[in-house]
Formats: sequence, structure tokens, C-alpha cells
Amino acid sequence: MDADLPIFVRPSRDDDVEPMLAIYRRHIRRGIEAGVEETGTPQPDDLKDRRKNLRNRRLPHLVATRGGEVVGYAYVVPFRKRPAYRFTVKHSIYVHHEHLGRGIGRLLMQALIDAGAAAGFRQMIGYIDAENTASLALHERFGFVRVGVLPGVAYRYGKWSDSVMVQRSLGVGATGPVATEASQR
Ligand SMILES: CC(C)(COP(=O)(O)OP(=O)(O)OC[C@H]1O[C@@H](n2cnc3c(N)ncnc32)[C@H](O)[C@@H]1OP(=O)(O)O)[C@@H](O)C(=O)NCCC(=O)NCCS
Repeated sequence: MDADLPIFVRPSRDDDVEPMLAIYRRHIRRGIEAGVEETGTPQPDDLKDRRKNLRNRRLPHLVATRGGEVVGYAYVVPFRKRPAYRFTVKHSIYVHHEHLGRGIGRLLMQALIDAGAAAGFRQMIGYIDAENTASLALHERFGFVRVGVLPGVAYRYGKWSDSVMVQRSLGVGATGPVATEASQR
């Protein structure tokens, strides 16, 4: 595909699920993703349900397309279920293996940050395999700070790996009040 074609980022749709899964499966096979073995791969219906759930809760779920083909995706999920954590999300971002290093991750990350802030979220958290240089650099570029290392939490292909926890605030972050429903726990 022509690498000069423009990249568009938009909310995902049901028919994006298959290409999103193909991107995900390929990264698992290459062992980039932390701690996930092939047996844990979600099925298309799981992903469709998850996508609908996210949309119902106003959690951004985006794809990047080039020439009509899905070349990457990014989404957030709640950081934790308890209501006190409702302003904090955890994100994931994946770029098609044939389209790496061409700015797609950057576009998706910016769009995800903007959409997350617009939806009223205040903190964004990511877990990155300590050996995932590309992802660590991408997050640093977008102002994520390393807030922790979880040693030996992943085991794959006969080897233990650390995870790095990164965080950045969205909008006013923790410096401003929350509108109206602040009294909820
Ligand atoms: C991490 C990932 C999303 C980056 O996407 P990408 O489209 O290749 O990245 P971009 O081309 O937009 O580059 C953005 C920044 O990432 C960094 N980066 C990308 N590839 C890199 C590499 N191979 N080595 C070091 N830094 C890299 C750079 O800081 C770059 O900024 P720059 O262009 O100003 O130098 C992609 O590598 C990916 O999908 N990896 C597999 C899945 C994954 O690990 N997801 C993250 C889980 S936390």
C-alpha cells in the first residue's frame, strides 16, 4: 500500500473487529505484547461486545485507516471498577506490523488523549513490557511519566518480564474539581 496515503483516525465500527484482531494476533505471535499467550486471544464476538460496552460508557475506541484499511487501533477501559476510579482509564494501542514507524502510533495516541479528555477522564495509565522500547519511547514523547515497575509479572516464552507502569493526566488532571456528581464515592 502507498505509504503516502493520508491516515485517518475515527471511532471503530463492528466491521473493524476482524482487522483489529488480525493486528493483535500478529503482535502476540511476535511476542511484543506483555504476558499474553495465544490461548488468551479474544474472539471476534468478544471484541464486538467489548466495543459496544465501551461505546455505551463513552470510552473512546478508535481505529486508524489508510486507503480504507485498518492499520492500527487504540482504546481505553476503566482502570478499576469501583466508582472512585471512574475518572481514570487504562489504554492500549496497536499498529499493524507492516505500518510501524510511520507516525500511526503518534496519531492514535494524540486522538486517544484528546477523546479521553473530551469525555471527562482525568488520568490515563498504561502498562508496558520493560523491553518494549518503541512503546516506552512513544509514551515518553506524549508526556507519560514512569510511576512504577512491576518486576517479574509476565511470563512468556520461558522468560519472566517486568512491566513498567506509566501515567499522564488529561485536562486539568487532579488539579481541578469534578462537576456536580463529586459526592459519589
Ligand atoms: C508502540 C507502537 C504503537 C508505536 O507505533 P508506531 O506507529 O510504530 O509509532 P510512530 O511511528 O507513531 O512513532 C511514535 C514514537 O514512538 C517511538 N518509536 C516508534 N518506534 C520506535 C522504535 N522501533 N524504537 C524506538 N522508538 C520508537 C518514537 O519515540 C516515535 O517518535 P518520533 O517519531 O518522534 O521519534 C507500535 O510499535 C506497536 O503497535 N507495537 C506493538 C504493540 C504494543 O506494544 N503496543 C503498546 C502496548 S503498551
